[in-house]
Amino acid sequence: MIEFLEKTKLLSLHTKNTSYIMQVFKGQHLLHLYWGKRIAMTVRDVYLPLDERVNMVHSDPSDKSYHIEDLPFEYAFWGKGDFRSPSLSVTNGSGVIIPGFVYESHTISEGKPEIPGLPSTFAKEKDEAETLEIKLSNPGTDLKVILSYTVFPEFDVITRNVRIENLCESTVRLEKFMSVTIDFPPGGYELLTLPGAWGRERWIERQPVPHGVVSIGSSRGISSHQFNPFIALLSSGTSEVNGEVFGFNLVYSGNFVAETEKNQDDRIRLNMGINPGTFSWELKPGESFETPEAVLVYSDNGLNGMSGIYHNFYRKRLSRSAFAAKERPVLVNNWEATYFSFNEESLLEIANRSKDLGIELFVLDDGWFGGRDSDHSSLGDWVVNRGKLPGGIEGISRKIRKMGMKFGLWFEPEMISPDSDLFRSHPDWALQIENSPPAEGRNQLVLDLTRSEVVTEIISMFKLILGTKAVDYVKWDMNRPLTDVYSSALPSDRQGELYHRYMLGLYKIMDEITSAFPDILFEGCAAGGGRFDPGILHYMPQYWTSDNTDAVSRLKIQYGTSLIYPPIFMGSHVSAVPNHQVGRSTEIEMRGNSAMMGNFGYELDFAKLNKKELETVKNQVSFYKTHRKLIQFGRFYRLVSPFEGETASWMTVCQDNSEFILFYYRILAEANMPRSSVKLAGIDKQSFYRETESGDVYSGSELMFRGYFLPRFTADFQSVIIHFSSMESLD
Ligand code: DGJ
Repeated sequence: MIEFLEKTKLLSLHTKNTSYIMQVFKGQHLLHLYWGKRIAMTVRDVYLPLDERVNMVHSDPSDKSYHIEDLPFEYAFWGKGDFRSPSLSVTNGSGVIIPGFVYESHTISEGKPEIPGLPSTFAKEKDEAETLEIKLSNPGTDLKVILSYTVFPEFDVITRNVRIENLCESTVRLEKFMSVTIDFPPGGYELLTLPGAWGRERWIERQPVPHGVVSIGSSRGISSHQFNPFIALLSSGTSEVNGEVFGFNLVYSGNFVAETEKNQDDRIRLNMGINPGTFSWELKPGESFETPEAVLVYSDNGLNGMSGIYHNFYRKRLSRSAFAAKERPVLVNNWEATYFSFNEESLLEIANRSKDLGIELFVLDDGWFGGRDSDHSSLGDWVVNRGKLPGGIEGISRKIRKMGMKFGLWFEPEMISPDSDLFRSHPDWALQIENSPPAEGRNQLVLDLTRSEVVTEIISMFKLILGTKAVDYVKWDMNRPLTDVYSSALPSDRQGELYHRYMLGLYKIMDEITSAFPDILFEGCAAGGGRFDPGILHYMPQYWTSDNTDAVSRLKIQYGTSLIYPPIFMGSHVSAVPNHQVGRSTEIEMRGNSAMMGNFGYELDFAKLNKKELETVKNQVSFYKTHRKLIQFGRFYRLVSPFEGETASWMTVCQDNSEFILFYYRILAEANMPRSSVKLAGIDKQSFYRETESGDVYSGSELMFRGYFLPRFTADFQSVIIHFSSMESLD
């Protein structure tokens, strides 16, 4: 997996299909030589930069045979003539940026170490991964930078993160500390990112990489609705099935940055890590600091190729939860059915109807605690409202379980309402700047998770409620960004650490609670998909994809999300019409077919559906349960993009190719439309498949290369879900 060639100082990492190659140049600079399709590198002295270029400096005046700005780096430093955006900026006590780190040594070991305090992917068996640590040192100080690479050959994945150790006698300050840097060779790359907003999360955007810096990221204290911590470089013209894709996904839920910089020679530097604009960190003598991990995926099979690798790896090596490998229940959530106005009777009525429809889990959303009848109060007062639920949480849970369903409960543990007993007794627990009234989001403030007493209090609250064993599922919500980022518990010169310390506090709580309650299924949420990132998914194996439950809007949201995250992570529910977010009315079939791509559920009042609709719901639940394993654990392929027209399509194929489901959606209709066809992907070309409902038989090659002809769509918002099984023989 990892090789070092002493003679040429080549460090090569190989996965099954890829290679990633570095070289120590002139005994000091760690260069990035190659990342892509697997190759064998035999060349003796590989890197040959030009020695005399005009208007470039020589970082080492004793060796004028190269220019530092001309080198492709693995990790880049400011101050000696490389003017591109650096990987690290660390200042000494006088505020001077410490320049230049050079190769010192490296080690190769089995397995993958954890990153203290941070979520990360993991190796299940020691021999399935190998880790390379490269130590860089600074000639003028005793600072060490350790670049860490873990290779997962079978998964075709490489992860990277970086540690800095202060072995000096004085304190230094980190101002920028990236998880990954790669200098790509010149080429016509495109940049792919997933921008969005509340209700419009993770739309796909592509653009040619321009000269200069393009930077995406978050400064909201959460990874955000606005950008997912993901960026990819694509060879020009890359499609779902063809082209080279270089994907980077940060295992972090806070402020991040991902930037490209195309320089004068058309080389592209890519940096990704904690957002330096909202970060600084004091590193005392003897201390170290570790960055979040970045997960790197290369594919020359287009975007589907990259997604397949992320999906397979994340399904198996991201979430620590015992539920990661288990089929997930079909749920009903009362939020859009009742909002805050419910009582035990109305909830039980929803539950009763749900049970008759085959639903397996009832989730009680916001409004069960304190005096919370609107979003104006009570966050922090996690005591059941006996007016609404006279038997408490245990009482309603008992009744739901008696119906044969599991019981789930909503929390928003990171928040505090100004109108709450918690705020009245601990106003200093909320993030706020002295003498400046804090900005409110959804009428609430954010708890200061940098304070250990706040972390302890949240952990005790969870232990008290979940310790009753009345809860089978937790929805962990978070409904506003961080503002007024000041903590009276931190000294004035360390306020720049707050955003990251908040994340460390949050991860500590998530780690402790999810480990203490391994039998509870946790689902993440942040006003919908505002923190849908690998950091949270490490603790919680599913996530509420978006507050926008409209069947049509969801096509784009789920399509974009599937670039990186497998369907099993995506909570997707059927809701009422007209839809509460966009006002659109679609039939129950379309709503079911859209939601069925992911982790399926409902959030509406079944009492408002007619008999025919209820029959349809029953069939949907039964279809989903029959094919749940295929949908939740199959290989997923995007076929037609809703970003490019009025249709969308995807499919999921069972791991052994024996069955698959095709999903196809028509958004707006046109008059006099012909039948359309779609070319399938990922199935066995040599096999024959029978369409379950019609009994029609097709060859795999025919479906992939000629295509499947869809029924004629005659109106807006129509869709089909078609199941096929492979046949033993053609007779
Ligand atoms: C935002 C979530 O995304 C919704 O699903 C719901 O749980 C509300 N919060 C409750 O306040």
